[in-house]
Amino acid sequence: MEDKIVVKNLNLFFDKLCVLKSINLNIKANQIFSIIGPAGSGKTTFLRILNRLNDLIPYVRLEGEVYLDDKNIYKEDIPLPWLRRKVGMVFALPVPLPGTIFENIAYGPKLQGMTSKTKLSSLVEKSLKSAFLWDEVRYKLDASALRLSGGQQQRLCIARTLALEPEVILLDEPCSGLDPISTAKIEEALHELKKNYTIILVTNNTKQAARVSDNIAFFLMGELVEYGHVEQIFTVPRDKRTQDYISGRFG
Ligand SMILES: Nc1ncnc2c1ncn2[C@@H]1O[C@H](COP(=O)(O)OP(=O)(O)OP(=O)(O)O)[C@@H](O)[C@H]1O
Ligand SMILES: [Mg+2]
Repeated sequence: MEDKIVVKNLNLFFDKLCVLKSINLNIKANQIFSIIGPAGSGKTTFLRILNRLNDLIPYVRLEGEVYLDDKNIYKEDIPLPWLRRKVGMVFALPVPLPGTIFENIAYGPKLQGMTSKTKLSSLVEKSLKSAFLWDEVRYKLDASALRLSGGQQQRLCIARTLALEPEVILLDEPCSGLDPISTAKIEEALHELKKNYTIILVTNNTKQAARVSDNIAFFLMGELVEYGHVEQIFTVPRDKRTQDYISGRFG
């Protein structure tokens, strides 16, 4: 399998504070790659590096290289809209736009110039199916998205990202506020999605990481302690700090 993302000697500073140190990491296509680690270890910052969201912060400084399909995404000639289209992001708190379920999904593709009603309808249906939400909303696509439950809203946000047809999907603790049933539905969706996408999941739930991941990275205070296959990380971690974290001794 090919590497979808390659990170080389990455350091990230907020002003003088180094929050990611010498990160080297390869992520293969069509897998779920999870990032675990205690609060403040740099998980969100790392995720945001992958579609250059940190660029909005004026006092940020990045050293090193980040490749998407062999293209260095921090080279100046990379158009940000191109990158953000390829690398979609789903946040912890689902924030639907005020408007109908249909409009929420169709909004992005419309902005990108899709006008055909039939095309939009089929894209909305396909995205909702892939996010495992279609059966619950198919008869109320013109109802307000704000009236969906939290778990449904999160799947709506996943569908919205999918409608832009990305290749990589970043998810930052997408199940943090959700009940076990909604969580299971999202995990099921992710499992299906990895056939067509590369999924990078930040989770503060070690059990979830064990359930859904192909590979796992353990971050601690800005350091990538280790990463590897889920079984290796959970049965024979190379570093004692990983062992301590997954067995709940700190974090
Ligand atoms: N915009 C910012 N400006 C300055 N410092 C920041 C900024 N964002 C994050 N940091 C700092 O960077 C470090 C890593 O934060 P980050 O949010 O990446 O951690 P995290 O692993 O996602 O934590 P959590 O599990 O709480 O979400 C922390 O020390 C944090 O205070
Ligand atoms: Mg975070």
